[in-house]
Amino acid sequence: MPVLENSRLAIVGAGAVGTALAYASLIRETAREVVLYDIDEARVNAEILDLAHGTPFTGSSAISGGADLDVVAGANVVVVTAGAKQHPGQSRLDLAGVNVEILRDLMPALVERAPDAVFMLVTNPCDVLAVAAQRFSGLEPSRVFSSGTVLDSSRLRWRLAERLGVSASSVHAMIVGEHGDSEFPLWSQSRIGPIPIRDWRDDAGENLSVEELDEIADDVKNAAYTVIAGKGATNYAIGLSGARIVEAIFRDEGAILPVSSVLSDYHGVDGVALSVPSIVDAGGVSRVIDTPFSAEEERQLHHSASAIRASLEALGL
Ligand code: LAC
Repeated sequence: MPVLENSRLAIVGAGAVGTALAYASLIRETAREVVLYDIDEARVNAEILDLAHGTPFTGSSAISGGADLDVVAGANVVVVTAGAKQHPGQSRLDLAGVNVEILRDLMPALVERAPDAVFMLVTNPCDVLAVAAQRFSGLEPSRVFSSGTVLDSSRLRWRLAERLGVSASSVHAMIVGEHGDSEFPLWSQSRIGPIPIRDWRDDAGENLSVEELDEIADDVKNAAYTVIAGKGATNYAIGLSGARIVEAIFRDEGAILPVSSVLSDYHGVDGVALSVPSIVDAGGVSRVIDTPFSAEEERQLHHSASAIRASLEALGL
């Protein structure tokens, strides 16, 4: 698909995630302009140069940026990846204090420079930060959200596709709730092609057992810990997930994705950001979809909400 005019993507943070998002955006031609910002001038200029050197192979997206926050001026979409990252065994919620403080001054400075942009938080804990960013920016919740469980849902779809021998594009399944330890699969709404997942039969005519589905969901929930233990961070899949979401904005797709925005009376959840099926288009999150949840799924959604609310309250938000 041709890269769009007037599509200026600003990425705040040139660490492993921000540079992976920039790299994915260049390869996928997510935006005409990809702008990378970081406070570390030597680092960000080197990352920009390294990315630019490959653009003769990537199409018509251009990379620029630097260590002056003014480089985000005029961006249509701003993605925040800056902040402390998980260490092996550390939970995402453990990062809340330090990363919320970074946002307190950063969000107003970004809105001042890109007042009409849609803002996406990738930094963790992304659900807590989506609430904080929305408060600190004063923008409507549709324009300040987080990547949420789009990555977790990709992990789930990959696992199911591998297990069932079908294309991941035919696996319609989402992880919802917290992007973190209380996330859960929306099994009641999951399908393989047109087949509800619980009715699926493999070549041997066997259903997927509850135990196997639980094991798959558990592996997905703990996937980041596994990757971080081995390489110190996750970056490629979150970079691709972020690029996918940004494309839905720039192309005004109306894509239904489990991004995390501040909910209002959603299955009784109010005032916290959690991932649920949402329509993503040029305006950001244009609609949160009223989706049927089983009683157990509703319980799990409220468990996620309690985890996020406790983190917010501990920070005085
Ligand atoms: C992960 C990080 C992005 O799940 O939270 O890999």
